[in-house]
Amino acid sequence: MEKRKFGKTGVEVSILGFGAMYIGNARVDDVTADRMLNEVLDLGINLIDTARAYGQSERRIGQFISHRRSEFILSTKVGYDVQWQPDWTYEAVTGGIEQALKLMKTETIDIVHLHSCSLDILEKGDVIRGLEKQKKEGKVRFIAYSGENEALKFVISTGRFDSIQASVNICDQRIIDDTLPEAVRQGLGVIAKRPIANAPWRHSSPPVGHNSAEYWHRLKKMSIDPHGMDWLELALRFSAYTEGVSTCIVGTSSTDHLKENLRALEKGPLDRDIIQHIRSEFQKNDDNRVGLI
Ligand SMILES: NC(=O)c1ccc[n+]([C@@H]2O[C@H](COP(=O)([O-])OP(=O)(O)OC[C@H]3O[C@@H](n4cnc5c(N)ncnc54)[C@H](OP(=O)(O)O)[C@@H]3O)[C@@H](O)[C@H]2O)c1
Repeated sequence: MEKRKFGKTGVEVSILGFGAMYIGNARVDDVTADRMLNEVLDLGINLIDTARAYGQSERRIGQFISHRRSEFILSTKVGYDVQWQPDWTYEAVTGGIEQALKLMKTETIDIVHLHSCSLDILEKGDVIRGLEKQKKEGKVRFIAYSGENEALKFVISTGRFDSIQASVNICDQRIIDDTLPEAVRQGLGVIAKRPIANAPWRHSSPPVGHNSAEYWHRLKKMSIDPHGMDWLELALRFSAYTEGVSTCIVGTSSTDHLKENLRALEKGPLDRDIIQHIRSEFQKNDDNRVGLI
């Protein structure tokens, strides 16, 4: 599978990464999660993204693929849910990393994100210092922020981060003009989250969940012509080949979908006129469409 430089970190990531949110769900059993995680690695995907908040996900990564640790770049997110520590403090960040190291049975986590905290928390600086302390001690290789809009711009302006994770998809395009160019200029790694916008075309009415429903409404309002492609292919090729994106982490609990996503990406970038058409449909309908966390 195609690999790309992850900013100036010196590591390379597969163009398709794995969003390990759904395999943390209690409705997915251990046997399925084990099969899925190993299949991800067998297919040559080398970036796995999880978070403290994703249920059983960190534990399952530790239990089922820590013996293959050299085969993948491990990414997680912290800042909350550490016993006795208030959320979004220095201690919640350092403690969250200690917990993640234990759960995922590893000595170093490659990428640790602050998990979408607000701008005012970032400005106080404690959470960033917590990440930097763990990086200095070798427990984290690259420090990162996952989030959107003004908070994301602030993170980039500090010059203290190695990479970012943000929504880049057919329904979330503002970032392409107003944030990605600066991230590229600084040599940051960029993980595109929600790369298929939660696949809104699957639903005949708005799905449950604020962000999924918002994407559904956004897509409905645009008049995107898929040019004979299926929607999955159009959406994924758009996100993955956006200038500045290093990898895109589709979330799935289905190996069939995983393989379909790989096949779509093998087709390479969309034609320039199709990209222009998708960009212009977004711009025409951009009534303050901010990035969705
Ligand atoms: N704030 C944050 O930091 C944040 C927020 C959101 C997401 N994330 C990260 O980004 C990852 C991806 O985001 P996401 O999962 O919300 O959005 P997404 O990847 O855009 O969409 C995932 C949805 O698409 C479906 N899907 C996947 N492949 C498909 C295919 N080939 N055909 C049809 N449907 C398909 C999945 O269902 P199936 O299970 O049926 O395949 C799932 O419901 C997450 O796993 C997580 O790692 C981070």
